[in-house]
Amino acid sequence: MPFPTHRLRRLRSSATMRHMVRETSLTPHDFILPLFIRGNLAPKTRVPIKSMPGCYHISPDMAAVMAKEAYSVGVPAVLLFGLPVRKDAIGSRAWAADGAVQRATLEIKAARSEVCVICDTCLCEYTDHGHCGVLKNERVDNDATLDLLARTAVSQAEAGADMVAPSDMMDGRVAAIRKALDQSGFENTPIMSYAAKYASSFYGPFREAAECAPSFGDRSGYQMDPGNSREAIREVALDIEEGADMVIVKPALPYLDIIKTVRDNFSVPVAAYQVSGEYAQIKGAAAIGLVDETKNMLESLTSIKRAGADIIITYFAVNAAKTLIRHMMNGGSMPLEVHGSD
Ligand code: PBG
Repeated sequence: MPFPTHRLRRLRSSATMRHMVRETSLTPHDFILPLFIRGNLAPKTRVPIKSMPGCYHISPDMAAVMAKEAYSVGVPAVLLFGLPVRKDAIGSRAWAADGAVQRATLEIKAARSEVCVICDTCLCEYTDHGHCGVLKNERVDNDATLDLLARTAVSQAEAGADMVAPSDMMDGRVAAIRKALDQSGFENTPIMSYAAKYASSFYGPFREAAECAPSFGDRSGYQMDPGNSREAIREVALDIEEGADMVIVKPALPYLDIIKTVRDNFSVPVAAYQVSGEYAQIKGAAAIGLVDETKNMLESLTSIKRAGADIIITYFAVNAAKTLIRHMMNGGSMPLEVHGSD
């Protein structure tokens, strides 16, 4: 006779009680902050990104300032994207020793060596056609791209990157990058691969921010079909076999089932990327008073962690970390009283 013996409301009767039995809690250490480095900006510059309120294009030295700020509130890592001074057909600024990402990496490591610097390894911000690899007859040539990605990863490691994160979705790129890193003496540099990356409409604001929208076609020839989940298992398994140390599922909130599937099937750390469209939706809805930004932020991040993510890449990283700290200092009352309960 479940009722009245069992009353689940008993453990919900006070904030303290709810706090004690909460299964999933966020901490600032869960987050990775993405940064957009623009090579041609004057020092100490940050320019707001229209499509992503609260995010900036920053100069390489500014990356050190922002990474230190993030680190000071407990966010251990940044993920660097570069906007090069010029683009070409093969994306050669991706592996330039004086490229935006390489310079920012040097600056951050010099300013605060404890910050974990992760470099996004891809060509789309660097190619004049905006695709993630080199083209042959208007198609992305998988095998010809591998060597360029490997060179990019090595140049990032040479600049001091603590980790590289290939987001291109070419087949075999993790193995190619692992081999090149090892041959260059970076056998201790981990690879966090975007293993299950979907061809998603949620990347819109990012493509404006990173100036990397494809000039023709779309990315469905290399990124995953949103309808597929078994394929995510194959992608992740292959990346791990090729040497990935951690894997990313991306986007996050619309793909919670994929996060859970990957979590249940593999034992490597799983990161989830709360992408630009997820971020912009919360920001946009909050700006016109439809949702509470802070509560939406914390609830979405909690859901992503609850689904199985160990780490969340999010543009909210610093804001969320500060909010969590503020709540904890307020007499230990926890931040997840976010549902506007009665
Ligand atoms: C580039 C890349 C993209 C994102 C991260 N790396 C865009 C894309 O694949 O088109 C999206 C991130 C976001 O939307 O926040 N390979």
